[in-house]
Amino acid sequence: MTTKDELLAQLRRIRSHDVPWREGRTFAGVYDPGAAAADAAAAAYAEFSSENALYVNFYPSLLQLEAEVLARVKALLRAPDGACGNLTSGGTESILLACKAARDRAAAGRGVRDGEIVLARSAHPAFHKAAHLLGLRVVITEFDSGFRADPDAMAAAITPRTVMLVASAPCYSHGVVDPVADLARLARQHSLWLHVDGCVGALFMGFMREAGMPAPPFDFSIDGVSSISADLHKYGYAPKGAGSLVYRSRELRRHALYANAHTSGYALVNPTALSSRSGGPIAAAWATLQVLGDDGYRRIVQQTMAATAQLRAGIAAIDGLSVLGEPAMCMFALACRDASVFEIEDQMRERGWHLQSQFSAPGTPANLHFSINHNNVPHVAALLADLRASVEAARKVPVPDVQPLVRLVLDALREPGAFDIDWLLGAVGASSGRLPQRWALINTLLDALPDAAVDALLVEYANRLYA
Ligand SMILES: Cc1ncc(COP(=O)(O)O)c(C=O)c1O
Repeated sequence: MTTKDELLAQLRRIRSHDVPWREGRTFAGVYDPGAAAADAAAAAYAEFSSENALYVNFYPSLLQLEAEVLARVKALLRAPDGACGNLTSGGTESILLACKAARDRAAAGRGVRDGEIVLARSAHPAFHKAAHLLGLRVVITEFDSGFRADPDAMAAAITPRTVMLVASAPCYSHGVVDPVADLARLARQHSLWLHVDGCVGALFMGFMREAGMPAPPFDFSIDGVSSISADLHKYGYAPKGAGSLVYRSRELRRHALYANAHTSGYALVNPTALSSRSGGPIAAAWATLQVLGDDGYRRIVQQTMAATAQLRAGIAAIDGLSVLGEPAMCMFALACRDASVFEIEDQMRERGWHLQSQFSAPGTPANLHFSINHNNVPHVAALLADLRASVEAARKVPVPDVQPLVRLVLDALREPGAFDIDWLLGAVGASSGRLPQRWALINTLLDALPDAAVDALLVEYANRLYA
């Protein structure tokens, strides 16, 4: 029989090509609470990994742990008496639930069918996915020159079929917070559901406020905010698989619930999209909150914000670079005037740094995204030195001419079947089952293609990658 130690050694070998995120040189999607909290959370996760929150009658412990985590989340979001919520598997599930609740409430109260959700282009793709799954239509409005949702544009997009308005606090792409108070006024005027997507930032900004640091208003203290999503597995620093969704009242949450007693099996009632839910992420989120404590989170937030300020000052001193808009916390988008950000990303990777490029969209150039987390704090000076060198190197690399490939892809997509997708993936270094070493060419191509063509290519790529 294979021993536990042998298995762990094998697992560590398998992940030897992963990004070494614990080293603090990855600036996207990493939220490292430090060894003590991570160990405690992992132990709590293991302890409850096979308990199922579906069966609260079997495991009242999970009901209690969920309620205790939510109590802290609600306090951070200044939720009123009567507010309620649930833990979810993450941001996408929270957003799906909020959209379902808004849809079903509008159907019950106003008879709306074929509902619409109005959002800014900066809102997370999870809303588009939710709309796709729920049979809703997405109405996109363009953001203002500060990359914030434009209340006038959103007001103009409201129709009798609108079921929800969306505000991001902040949006992932640029880290800016939408004018939530203005959008809440609009929602009140039209009796609409306003969901505030605080998946990435609501907990961080809640701790900023509690630590006396300035943070833009976004929470339930604003009348008209119906629900807020806030992920524990992002800046709540808990292991993956833990999001939260808080509703202003039980009357609103009722529309998110689903019950079914129409089969020969057990009658079920689900407050979330998942039915069976592992107790692992719930217990781990609870443990993270306990181990870090309020002081721990405040220290993390203060040190991370100091590092963010140091990073932004260093960036301002590098010719050609600029931060887009006015980011509210420790996330921002970096643009470059005279070199390709896709090439800079590759140059940085070759120097051991992991950043994330973002494509251009109406109103924003292509850029590099930074999410600064606590384990990045000691590495800012080293990152700045390599960023300067990467920008200089990128300036010397000609931007690839992707227009022939763009024409090829567009022609091929007009005539399905005539197009050799495998050839194209090979040509840009992304052949079946293999991740490319350099991404500048593929990113330049994707950036130049219309969004729908990118969607189609990504589906083809993923359909080959997951072999
Ligand atoms: C603002 C925002 N909303 C929603 C999500 C989706 O969260 P998840 O990846 O946990 O589903 C993210 C993820 O980064 C996000 O930043």
